[in-house]
Parts: sequence; C-alpha cells; structure tokens
Amino acid sequence: MAINSTESLVICICACVGALVIVYYTLRILLHLLNYCCCRRRQNLLELYGNGERGVWAVVTGGSDGIGLELCHQLAEQGFNICMMARNKNKMDEKLAQIKELYPLCETKAIVADFSKLSTMQQYRQLVSEIAHLDVGYLALNTGIVQVGLTEQVTDSQFESVFNVNGLQVVYMAKAMLD
Ligand SMILES: NC(=O)c1ccc[n+]([C@@H]2O[C@H](COP(=O)([O-])OP(=O)(O)OC[C@H]3O[C@@H](n4cnc5c(N)ncnc54)[C@H](OP(=O)(O)O)[C@@H]3O)[C@@H](O)[C@H]2O)c1
Repeated sequence: MAINSTESLVICICACVGALVIVYYTLRILLHLLNYCCCRRRQNLLELYGNGERGVWAVVTGGSDGIGLELCHQLAEQGFNICMMARNKNKMDEKLAQIKELYPLCETKAIVADFSKLSTMQQYRQLVSEIAHLDVGYLALNTGIVQVGLTEQVTDSQFESVFNVNGLQVVYMAKAMLD
C-alpha cells in the first residue's frame, strides 16, 4: 500500500517527537547519574550546626545500634562529641569505647533512658537536666520501635510503649531540649 505525502509527514513528526522524548529522558538519567557519582558531597554538619568548632555535642537517641550508631560514628568523624541515650548502659559504653578508639579527640557520654516509660514533660525535663551543661549543636531523635500484630493481640501496655517512643519521645524531647 502506497503512503501519501500527508501520512509520511505524520510518521516523520511522530518519529521526531519519539526521538526527542528518548533523548530527553536519556539526558535526565545521565545527569542524575553524574550528580550521584561526582557531585554528591557529604554535608559538614559541624560547620552547619556547630560553627565548625570541635567540642560541640551531638545527642543521638537510640545511638547504640543500627542507624543511630552509624550516625554517631559519622558525627564523631566530623568532630562532634557524642552523647547516646538508650536503655542498656553496657552496650552504650562498649559502642562509645569503639568510637573513642577511632576518634580519640571525641568526648563521649551515655545517658540511660527508657522512652517507652516516659510520658510527661516533667520526666523529659528531668532527663534533659542530665545534659544541661553540654553545648548541644545536633539532636537526632532516632529511637523508634515497631509492634507487629493484630490490634487485639497488642496489649495496652505495648500499644502505649510504641506511642511513647515513636510519638512522645520525638516532640517532648525536642521541646525539653529547646526550652
Ligand atoms: N532499620 C530500618 O530498616 C528502618 C527503616 C525505617 C525506619 N527506621 C527507623 O530508624 C530508627 C532506627 O532504627 P534501627 O533499625 O537502626 O534501630 P535498632 O538497630 O533496633 O536500634 C534501636 C536503638 O534504640 C534503642 N532503643 C530501643 N528501644 C528503646 C527505648 N524504649 N528507649 C530508649 N532507647 C531504645 C536501642 O538501644 P537499647 O536496646 O539499649 O535501648 C538501640 O540503640 C527507628 O526509629 C526506626 O523506626 C528503621
């Protein structure tokens, strides 16, 4: 079947639009890759939140494990002193000793706190009074817990614990630190 000139013009326009779309998305992907590989610079948090001065403290709740522990390592590497808050003092002491070994100038502190049992501003103010003398430049409210199960399988106490840790800890701790 012969193609007339109008049809060939439409085919030509469609091919051009298709080619432009492909070029556009290819360039976008390449730019993203370039940005990811070459241009991503780790932020200097000490510069941002501690005026670049060694000796400013970072407080990390749940800093003795997982993401919080990695954050403590990276903050110590950047020159922050590290204060962890969690339930197990021995675990915190062990992890802080490892940090100290890697970054000898880093001062460290372990504060025992069980956020599942704290539910009033008064309790948070008392907790924060333990670090009132520290020059805190960075606060990471990292502790979080998950309670999996159907509603009827979760006890009231477990339910309250999850909310105390994931909800109240974040807002009460922030307010107690800022006041
Ligand atoms: N891992 C993931 O894939 C993932 C994904 C999305 C979001 N997150 C969130 O990221 C945060 C860190 O997760 P993660 O997996 O790194 O946690 P993780 O490895 O389980 O570490 C939890 C930390 O919190 C402390 N902690 C637990 N319960 C506490 C309590 N009641 N009071 C005070 N401290 C308590 C633990 O120390 P002690 O046991 O000594 O108290 C530990 O230092 C959480 O908020 C989590 O919800 C994680």
